[in-house]
Amino acid sequence: MPAFLLGIDVGTGGCKALLVDAQGAVVAEATIGFPLSTPKPLWSEQDPHDWWQATVASIGAVLDRAGLGPKDITGIGLTGQMHGLVLLDSSGEVLRPAILWNDQRCAAECEAIHERLGREMIIKRAGKPALPSFTAPKLLWVRAHEPQVWGAVEKILLPKDYVRYRLTGAFESDVADASGTLLFDVGRREWSDEIIDALEIPPSWLPEVRESPAAGAAVSADGAAESGLLAGTPVVAGAGDQAAEAVGCGIVEAGSVSVAIGTSGVVFAATESPSLDPDCPLHAYCHAVPGAYHVMGVMLSAGGSLRWYRDTLGSNEIARARETGADPYDLLIDEAATVPPGCEGLLFLPYLSGERSPHADPDARGAFVGLTLRHRKPHLTRAVLEGVTFGLRDSLELVRSLGVTVTSVRVSGGGARSAIWRQLMADVFGAEVVTVNTTHGAAFGAALLAGVGTGVWPGVVEAARAVVRETSTTRPGPATGVYTEHYQRYRALYTALAPEFSALATLAQQPTQRE
Ligand code: XUL
Repeated sequence: MPAFLLGIDVGTGGCKALLVDAQGAVVAEATIGFPLSTPKPLWSEQDPHDWWQATVASIGAVLDRAGLGPKDITGIGLTGQMHGLVLLDSSGEVLRPAILWNDQRCAAECEAIHERLGREMIIKRAGKPALPSFTAPKLLWVRAHEPQVWGAVEKILLPKDYVRYRLTGAFESDVADASGTLLFDVGRREWSDEIIDALEIPPSWLPEVRESPAAGAAVSADGAAESGLLAGTPVVAGAGDQAAEAVGCGIVEAGSVSVAIGTSGVVFAATESPSLDPDCPLHAYCHAVPGAYHVMGVMLSAGGSLRWYRDTLGSNEIARARETGADPYDLLIDEAATVPPGCEGLLFLPYLSGERSPHADPDARGAFVGLTLRHRKPHLTRAVLEGVTFGLRDSLELVRSLGVTVTSVRVSGGGARSAIWRQLMADVFGAEVVTVNTTHGAAFGAALLAGVGTGVWPGVVEAARAVVRETSTTRPGPATGVYTEHYQRYRALYTALAPEFSALATLAQQPTQRE
């Protein structure tokens, strides 16, 4: 009987369901969107019920598209946006909207965690300092600001694990996603009693954790009735979207490096052992490959900067694209290509949602610096692309500082589709930029993990070797030299502007006269 694997990615923009066959070929995909709410500046929330409804709808749609039925699915792998906090009460009801990875409200709780545990200790255990993106400070924020919610909490879950709960009835997670909570001992691959005790979080709130390809609870009768899947279909632990995406691109063996450009921008390097250096701004995680690790640098607004730019200044391109059927991003990027590298002295800082790596600074802000009368819109567009790429280089330089020789980088996500942006990346990174045949992101990696857990492939490395092929290589070109100096100026700008960003952030919190 043929095996079909279902990868489900609970993203920030929507839920993607992807069907993959036992040779690793994509059979069909369906994505259903859901809204994001920003009730206050720097807040970012979603309703977990929307994730579940979108999951159910995307499963129905992908089965229809493929002409397959639920009995054809032999394994399910879950992945999704990381770090988000879902709170459930004793009857499994959602207590408040989920607080997402890109929410920056809890700077004070991060300081409190460092005071209580010591920054160095938390990095040695959890692989990263306390930053507003991670789950633990969000939880402490709820304790401080919403005591009535806190008093009713019985379970905490990550976004994809809420979908697992609806599908299987079980409270489970995986080591890769759990290592983004700040409550997990990355080296030991288990919840950290030390951190949990120190933060006074009841251990019974935490889900059971497995290695990513391991099967946990299967689809329950209730989950089957709601989703249309068959009860008893195996569900593997899965992984946070970054580890799953890396699996799907073949970044599974130590020394391999990737850059993924979605809303966020991620530089990811697979490592043999956890890198728990308090002086390195990269963050250490368990990989979705059992026993392996990875480091990661995350820009909060990579593709997000370009999306903001398109939505704010790209109305002409959006209208033209509507008439011609083109993609507004392609129109913007084509225009940017008419401007010389370095944009004649214009730089863009991409810190539109604060920043995580390498500047762990929720107050960092976006900026165009160096504007003159000569600059036109294509300059601004190119400056956005260059600024995002410089931000990615920041993390790549940190990977290099760990002793990894970066001569080749696999790229994925929306940003990898453009040949112009790939050339820019090769020039700025001073490394070959390589695309692969597997372009379906984290959902594809989740489907591979489901295949490993159900015996289609013997291990994660073997699965990736069997299905991932390189499809294009872009080598650094003549602009590489130009970018060396521009990159130095880009770096200097954050240092120069950081105190002003912080002052502006304080100003923005103050009530305006109209209020
Ligand atoms: C990773 C991270 C984001 C989210 C969004 O650490 O915060 O990439 O997972 O999908």
